[in-house]
Amino acid sequence: MVDKASLDREKARKHLRALCMQIERHDYLYYRANRPEISDFEYDCLQAEKQALLKLYPEWNRDEGPGSDLGNLHFPTAKHLLPMLSLGNTYSQEELFEFFHRVEGKVQNHCSYLLEPKIDGVAISLVYKHRHLEKAITRGNGYVGEVVTENVRTIKEIPSTLPENAPEEIELRGEIYLTERQFTYLNDEQERLGLETYANARNLAAGSLKLLDVNEVARRRLHFIAHGVGFVSNDLQLDTQARLYTFFEQWGIPVFSFVVPGNSAEQIWDLMARFRLTQEQLPYGTDGVVIKVNDRSLQEQLGVTAKSPRWAIAYKFEPESAETLLQDVTFQVGRTGVITPVAELMPVDLAGSKVTRATLHNFDEIQRKDIRKKDIVVVQKAGEIIPAIVGVKKDQRSAFAEKIEVPLQCPACGAPLLKITGEVVIRCTSLNCLPQLRLKIVHFASKDAMDIDGLGPKIVDTLVSKGWLKDVADIFTLIDHRDAWIRLPGFSVTSVDNVLLAIEGAKNRPLECLLYGLSIPHVGVELARKLAAFSSSIKQFMQLSVEQLQAIPLVGEIIAHGIVDFFANTRNQSVIEKLFRLGLKTSFLKTPTKQPWNGKIFVLTGSLARWTRFETERVITSLGGNFGSTVTKQTSILVCGANPGNKLVQAKVLGIQIWSEEEFLHHVSDLHANRS
Ligand code: IVH
Repeated sequence: MVDKASLDREKARKHLRALCMQIERHDYLYYRANRPEISDFEYDCLQAEKQALLKLYPEWNRDEGPGSDLGNLHFPTAKHLLPMLSLGNTYSQEELFEFFHRVEGKVQNHCSYLLEPKIDGVAISLVYKHRHLEKAITRGNGYVGEVVTENVRTIKEIPSTLPENAPEEIELRGEIYLTERQFTYLNDEQERLGLETYANARNLAAGSLKLLDVNEVARRRLHFIAHGVGFVSNDLQLDTQARLYTFFEQWGIPVFSFVVPGNSAEQIWDLMARFRLTQEQLPYGTDGVVIKVNDRSLQEQLGVTAKSPRWAIAYKFEPESAETLLQDVTFQVGRTGVITPVAELMPVDLAGSKVTRATLHNFDEIQRKDIRKKDIVVVQKAGEIIPAIVGVKKDQRSAFAEKIEVPLQCPACGAPLLKITGEVVIRCTSLNCLPQLRLKIVHFASKDAMDIDGLGPKIVDTLVSKGWLKDVADIFTLIDHRDAWIRLPGFSVTSVDNVLLAIEGAKNRPLECLLYGLSIPHVGVELARKLAAFSSSIKQFMQLSVEQLQAIPLVGEIIAHGIVDFFANTRNQSVIEKLFRLGLKTSFLKTPTKQPWNGKIFVLTGSLARWTRFETERVITSLGGNFGSTVTKQTSILVCGANPGNKLVQAKVLGIQIWSEEEFLHHVSDLHANRS
């Protein structure tokens, strides 16, 4: 843990900044992208380290709300009547006992608790008005979420009406999940179709909930279990949480809870151990036990902090871990040439399966953890996430331990590797690297890119090995190989013609799909959309300088350099020329969506209560607006939060329109309501 004496202020500050950046990245991967890279346990360790630092330096504490799952805002947003808080959590028995102590200090007695599984699903708030399901809202950032009602109506445990004894108005809250069985079934199917697979059931449930095709959501078979309420009108008499669950059961809504009346901390601890065993029988994933004070008036007395109630806590189970020998480190090359180090392990049993490989993420991570070949390492697996190395037994390091050298050549094609300044990764920039080429082509054809149905990994492998695909543009010459292709084993006239037809269709995709599909370093779906809004053609886009690119929201120096370097590469230039020679019409299309705030420049001052700065920028840019850092004559609107700075004065002097946070939120929700 952190020791103040050994950390001077400057070092601590740097460390905190690094931790916050890591946490922000992992929040994004978990909440929005649904593809976490680290286990919940590793994430909680990062959070615990940050909290420990903030305890030493409370002056740096900017109390941030819980993470946010607000995505592309394809769905309208709505405000929760009462915020959706998260739960304080701990892995330590001592901290759990402190919780009991704090609670019982209030009543000077043992009190009644509920034990519940901590369900590894996606939180949802069901708003019933006059006993009809009016809206289902995701947690979002805790205050505002996305309205996904139609998708939620496909869940059989969620009634569209409540019986007579239900209250006039209630925010009924719980967890949406996929059974482990359904997860395996759907993920296998994704893989067969050559589509993106998910790390675990939670991520697949979260992804499914935000699909735009309600029939597909129904096919995924999501489930629901209730665990609480937000706002509830006072025509429902609730003395205890257990009573609330009795109502839920009467209304046909599942709950899972166990009442522990007036026991000592030690007795509850023993019960928890038994309760943990029963959780293995449950159809959903769990990662701990939630302990809640049963009495509702005591809950009220204990109150809430900015993030979580003081009357509940999650005791999380440390994921199983195992120690084994790190035999060797190999290197894998990814779509954009990034080299990922992979640990080759002496096989070891872990959480019911044999683990032989684990990801080492990147070389900074290896250095930070000081991992060496022939070390005894600690491997962990949480959920279905790829096993990760979370520690090294340095006291058991042998004389044969070897430093892991950063490779100089690509493991697949032998080309020299590059470490780009400012990036943690190492890349193979060769254009003749076959594994990279395969991945690039599959990506180019994927749904969010050029959407070429049927051109999945297996077919691409065949076509690359025949020598017909040497770059992404060759996809549009596949028609020349039709006769030979239909004679290949496993293909027929119909299957080949279907792919060829899909290829024809891909010639008309909008610019954002092309920008995403080209595998430009750092350019994901959302950034591609943003970039496309700034140019009418790829030719114009290719001429943007680092400075011009940096003026685009979300584009920092590293991204801008990545883009400029990509287009400066003559081979990439000739692939793009070839694409257009072969009939791509992309550049003639403007981005298709009509953006209500096109051309408007927003500036923010002060702090907003509802969204973080990042989220606010995302909301504005998703509606076509641009972002400025200073107030100038060109500024269209200044959004003014609490404790505004000089910008407010400047805006008043220049006569710029000023919106309060409230007004801003109104405009956003009006626009979203009109779009949907
Ligand atoms: S109570 C206000 N009970 O865990 C208290 N939450 O980290 C929060 N969760 O967002 C709700 N199982 O979605 C509660 N038995 C349970 C739960 C549970 C899973 C989720 C919930 C919340 C997150 C908090």
